[in-house]
Amino acid sequence: MTELERIGISLDKALLADFDKLIAQQGYQSRSEAIRDLVRQQLSQQKLADPETEAVAAVFLVYDHHAAKLAEKLIGLQHSHLLHAISSLHVHLDAHDCLEIIVLRGKVGEINKVGENLLSMKGVKLGRVNLVAT
Ligand code: NI
Repeated sequence: MTELERIGISLDKALLADFDKLIAQQGYQSRSEAIRDLVRQQLSQQKLADPETEAVAAVFLVYDHHAAKLAEKLIGLQHSHLLHAISSLHVHLDAHDCLEIIVLRGKVGEINKVGENLLSMKGVKLGRVNLVAT
């Protein structure tokens, strides 16, 4: 088990009341747990700002499967060596639209570049890239 160190934090009452309300809604059992997660989140965000950081990302794409050759292009891209796609999931949403979730691994800079290319493909209606530092 990792060694813990106790620290004291001063907060004004109104801010603490808002914080307690927020973490209760989110289901936290203690302030310590919530503060630990906030610190981790900030550290992770800071790491992700560096294009050299190793990361994994889930790229969400909603596209019309009637769009000219988009599905083929997506598969082609995933087989290319340029893209470090480690997994993908396809869901047929309705008669027209498909959801594709592609998991990428690599450096933040590369992932963002590939993600932008995917999102800007003709026929993609909605998309986003969710990054997590590894
Ligand atoms: Ni489909």
